[in-house]
Amino acid sequence: MDVCVIGAGYVGLVTSACLAFLGNTVIAVDANTARLESLKRGIVPFFEPGLSEFLTESISTGLLTFSDSIEQAVKKSQIIFIAVGTPPMPNGEPDLSQVMTVARAIGHALDSTKRRVIVNKSTVPVGSGNWVEMLVKQGVQSVQTVPARASKADAPTFSVCSNPEFLREGSAIADSFYPDRIVVGTTDEFAADLMKTLYKPIINQSFEPPIFIPRPHDITSIPYVVTDLASAELIKYAANAFLALKISFANEMSGLCEKAGADIREVSRGIGLDRRIGKYFLNAGIGWGGSCFGKDINALIQVAKEYNYPTSLLEATIAVNQRQRSVVIKKLQDELKIIKGRTIGLMGLSFKPDTDDLRDAPSISIAQQLIKMGATVKAYDPVSNENCQTLNPDLDVIYCKDVIELAHGCDAMLLITEWEEFRHANWQEIAKVMNCPLVIDGRNTLDEATAIKHGIIYRGIGR
Ligand SMILES: NC(=O)c1ccc[n+]([C@@H]2O[C@H](COP(=O)([O-])OP(=O)(O)OC[C@H]3O[C@@H](n4cnc5c(N)ncnc54)[C@H](O)[C@@H]3O)[C@@H](O)[C@H]2O)c1
Repeated sequence: MDVCVIGAGYVGLVTSACLAFLGNTVIAVDANTARLESLKRGIVPFFEPGLSEFLTESISTGLLTFSDSIEQAVKKSQIIFIAVGTPPMPNGEPDLSQVMTVARAIGHALDSTKRRVIVNKSTVPVGSGNWVEMLVKQGVQSVQTVPARASKADAPTFSVCSNPEFLREGSAIADSFYPDRIVVGTTDEFAADLMKTLYKPIINQSFEPPIFIPRPHDITSIPYVVTDLASAELIKYAANAFLALKISFANEMSGLCEKAGADIREVSRGIGLDRRIGKYFLNAGIGWGGSCFGKDINALIQVAKEYNYPTSLLEATIAVNQRQRSVVIKKLQDELKIIKGRTIGLMGLSFKPDTDDLRDAPSISIAQQLIKMGATVKAYDPVSNENCQTLNPDLDVIYCKDVIELAHGCDAMLLITEWEEFRHANWQEIAKVMNCPLVIDGRNTLDEATAIKHGIIYRGIGR
């Protein structure tokens, strides 16, 4: 099939590479020409395991190409994905300006040579499908005022559907090939059929998996959910809100565990074994971050406000998460008494391991808070140091090349991101070079016994 994907970020790029791998002809479009030039050479502008190699392979088959022209890409394609950013605005609403620009440009480029399906893959509030349709029509009309294109027979036919994306950064390619479900929101039979044909190799798991991303043994087919536009849009927000809620729930319990002398890891394990609850997303710690959870819950709250509908659970989910970021600072204060003049090392910066994404990363607010309190802050992240420096030039942090350099002279270290390498840290050496060998494990992830054996004063969360 002829597909174009507008927006070559985390979602757009992964979608483009995967669809090309499945044999479709894909044009990945982006407004950032510098990004496009790198991509053409297989250089991915962010860290996503395996994506660079995968991209190079898709480019070499000739099925994946790049363009900065929405006009040309749309004309060649039958399915047009919108995968641009929808970042949060200060009031919590998502900024839909990128979607707006792209929708109008698509309308401007549409012609009557084929019936097309426009797919909203960006995470957008309920009602955006209808809104995008209106914008596309405006784009169409802007061309149809030109007399030569004004005939009714020339009117482009298209429908807009929603196809929310559930991939996780760090495992984005595997999530695209082996998702828990594919959701398509449309009441147009043509669009539903076309999308099903596009995704058929994934739904039936009939494709030959890439060597480095083998098919998990228990996966034989993928549920394909076709629903109305509004429900599809809400599924995405509700899924993220529920996952964030689970983490916030575990965090709320972790505080109670500390008071009552219980261990949150045991409590989470005990409740997670109940199949109705499930074991995932019950890890207590400094809370969630990233580009999606906070943004999507806030957007959901804003949507509810339009209907004057109360969202106490969503608001509490955010409040608990915010509180959790100061829990590690409180623990530092309890141990060190005075923060002013201390040197604190942050182990990890990215919002989670296997990505260099720093959007809404707890590390940034924790670093800011510590600096404000008069501490010297050092940091080491296996992949995000540079990104952090670039994105936060005013953040007064000393970046280190490895965990030992980080530990040198520290009065305490905070585990912020549960990178695998931190689990295998050389605690003996770390304890030797720290000023005071205090480690606060903000993710309850380190091997406590080994660390203590080598002289570390270990503190976890919720135990
Ligand atoms: N990142 C994730 O893990 C994730 C997961 C699921 C859903 N989502 C959603 O998917 C959407 C995209 O997220 P992302 O993380 O890939 O964003 P991103 O910021 O990484 O990428 C967006 C891309 O769109 C490009 N762009 C912006 N305006 C454009 C225009 N007018 N024409 C062409 N290109 C344009 C930008 O240059 C950028 O490369 C968002 O709505 C997000 O909420 C993201």
